Amino acid sequence: MNVPQIVAMKDKEKISMLTAYDYTSARIADEAGIDIILVGDSLGMVMQGKTSTIPVTVDEMIYHAKMVKQGTKNALIVVDMPFMSYQADYVEAVRNAGRIMKETGCDAVKLEGGREFAVTINAIVSAGIPVMGHLGLTPQSINIFGSYKARGKNEKEAKKIIEDAKYIQEAGVFSIVLESVPKNLAKKVTQSVSVPTIGIGAGVHTDGQVLVFHDMLGLFDDFKPKFVKRYAHLKKEAVEAVKTYTKEVKEESFPTDEHSYE
Ligand code: KIV
Repeated sequence: MNVPQIVAMKDKEKISMLTAYDYTSARIADEAGIDIILVGDSLGMVMQGKTSTIPVTVDEMIYHAKMVKQGTKNALIVVDMPFMSYQADYVEAVRNAGRIMKETGCDAVKLEGGREFAVTINAIVSAGIPVMGHLGLTPQSINIFGSYKARGKNEKEAKKIIEDAKYIQEAGVFSIVLESVPKNLAKKVTQSVSVPTIGIGAGVHTDGQVLVFHDMLGLFDDFKPKFVKRYAHLKKEAVEAVKTYTKEVKEESFPTDEHSYE
């Protein structure tokens, strides 16, 4: 998968995107035929156990993205630019995006925000680095929003999201994530831009969907946003497996001869 192939999927075929944070999760996503793997800064929550994405660093993103690259043969790999790696100024943003691309071998970066980041997006794209945008609920702004509630529910916010999508398209994004916005707003945004939109909690009308690996497999159950569909319950299964293992160790029914050397 490459960026032009993803862009060409708009209006032809829905785009599937899933996060992954290491070799094993990337192999699972890639072998299953996912179009885009996102090394999301959601790793702050599901890998590091933090309460937000704010503390995640560029070094940590690079560490995880390198492992994802090792496990991926076909999917396009997009890496999140973490909080404060692009907000201060566009020169620093280009340097950080460049580090991510050079050190990980991944294909593109993603950053959150609208018109206020148009110059930054344009500078990164001009350096030859594809950028995916992210509008609606942008978790790096949690301290401004005050909660992870859906965005764009009033007319003023909805209008800004549509305008922002046009601004960042003009600045050069190849795709836009729409997070936690009403489905009719997501439809309007999708119809207003020529690049694909990828929704998470944005309804069925976007050009693609993204979920967090640990959410959709039921590995992470600290909380469950409304938009998460669990396609498996792997945490429950894993806890049962570990319980059985512990029991067998205690009662000496593991290991048997099958797992022992003569
Ligand atoms: O970090 C992440 O996983 C994301 C998705 C929720 C889109 O940005």
